[in-house]
Amino acid sequence: RSKRTSVNDIKALHRVRPIVSLTAYTAPMAAMIDPHVDFLLVGDSLGMVLYGFETTLPVTLDMMIAHGAAVVRGSKRAMVVVDMPFGSYQESPAQAFRNAARVLAETGANAVKMEGGEEMAETIRHLTERGVPVLGHVGLTPQFVNSFGGYRTQGKTLAEARKVKDDAAAVAAAGAFAIVLEGTMEPLAREISEGSPVPIIGIGASPHCDGQILVTEDMLGLFNEFVPRHVKRFAELGAEVSKAVAAYAEEVKARSFPGPEHTFRPKA
Ligand code: KIV
Ligand code: NA
Repeated sequence: RSKRTSVNDIKALHRVRPIVSLTAYTAPMAAMIDPHVDFLLVGDSLGMVLYGFETTLPVTLDMMIAHGAAVVRGSKRAMVVVDMPFGSYQESPAQAFRNAARVLAETGANAVKMEGGEEMAETIRHLTERGVPVLGHVGLTPQFVNSFGGYRTQGKTLAEARKVKDDAAAVAAAGAFAIVLEGTMEPLAREISEGSPVPIIGIGASPHCDGQILVTEDMLGLFNEFVPRHVKRFAELGAEVSKAVAAYAEEVKARSFPGPEHTFRPKA
């Protein structure tokens, strides 16, 4: 059994080579992705991608724990990070620790991710000092959809740019081992990456980030509710699924499936 990637391994990649990450929600997808990434993120985007919610806000801690445990079971070498869902950490550092400890204990994951900047710094310090590695998440933070009034790229105004920069700096200073920077204008994203003491993992940010992450279903063409500009389709698996299912339906109606090779009969 080979050793799993650790937060120190991730930090050691900073300014050596880009860090590779994708989301995973299930054991089989985790197993397919595992050989190719440095860490797997069990993102609360599963609320939209798997459960059909309109935002990530209805996702519960129990859902994250169930999917987190599945991803740990399905993978063996990539580090596993689990998103803390809305309402499970914003109340206080004590609430955040209690729930993050459950995530690590009940899933076997190596770290948690939480959204927020300067306002979350105290909580991030509280957790990292007590054995819970934290991946930060600043810029476009989907759990703030109601405060933002939608999903808007951040850093368009000077005041917004200043805020994203201050947020990234505060989260790094609080002890986060790396930071996801989402939906943030260039060249701000590049500037933040170049100045950051910890790796900046971009999504809708900059090729100059210290790593990249995408939602796996987005890049595979398996989630078509909306396709944001930052997504590159590396495959069109959704179209493949439709084709396969249509062929199955035809064969069932024509009684050409199952064929003799799929049926069980006594040997003559
Ligand atoms: O929930 C998620 O999938 C995420 C990534 C997009 C960073 O937070
Ligand atoms: Na998320």
